[in-house]
Amino acid sequence: KAKVAIFISGRGSNMAALLYASQLPEAAYEVVLVAANDPSADGLQLAAAEGVHTFALSHQGMPRADHEAAMEKAARQAGADYIILAGYMRILTDRFVKRWQERMLNIHPSLLPKYPGLDTHQRAIDAGDSHGGVSVHLVTPDLDAGEVLGQMKVAIREGETAESLAERVRYAEHQLYPRILGDYVSRESDPSFLLERVRKLALALPQTH
Ligand code: GAR
Repeated sequence: KAKVAIFISGRGSNMAALLYASQLPEAAYEVVLVAANDPSADGLQLAAAEGVHTFALSHQGMPRADHEAAMEKAARQAGADYIILAGYMRILTDRFVKRWQERMLNIHPSLLPKYPGLDTHQRAIDAGDSHGGVSVHLVTPDLDAGEVLGQMKVAIREGETAESLAERVRYAEHQLYPRILGDYVSRESDPSFLLERVRKLALALPQTH
């Protein structure tokens, strides 16, 4: 099974969805750590109650690179192969992102490429969109711009507020994230994926003739 560390900043409802999905028969991943940049994040308590290792370190007063290095160390010590951002509200340095390239996923509450950044629901409502939604994507140095692995649309109703939309988008998130993560980590045992990886590596080798 793939080992994942989940980074959170608050409520942790996506973390909970990922955690309980990992307890289904034939789940493709297990959660080895839940880490937060806020020691009072609600999700930490839940993870601990479910017997998952937790780590918390406030980012306040710390250089960004030092804080993320401590988070990364905790993930590595827990044996994580993947870092899963679930409502993690800190921007990571390019160097960190590159170290985890293709091994770090994020969930974002909009139909990317629409509305990267913050206030996604209000922006969708203000634009008169028929739908908001959620995207799971690979993390790259450009904010919310990595390859989209999966999306789900959520209808915007008459009189919708950002809060009411956010709540329904969360229901969609809880379905989408475990599914996409499971499929993503499973690709590693797919022969055509492995072949493609070998091909890419061969192309990247320096030519000797
Ligand atoms: C989720 O809706 C997630 O999409 C969003 O924060 C919420 C966290 O909720 N993420 C972002 O806005 C990332 N920029 P949760 O703590 O209950 O999972």
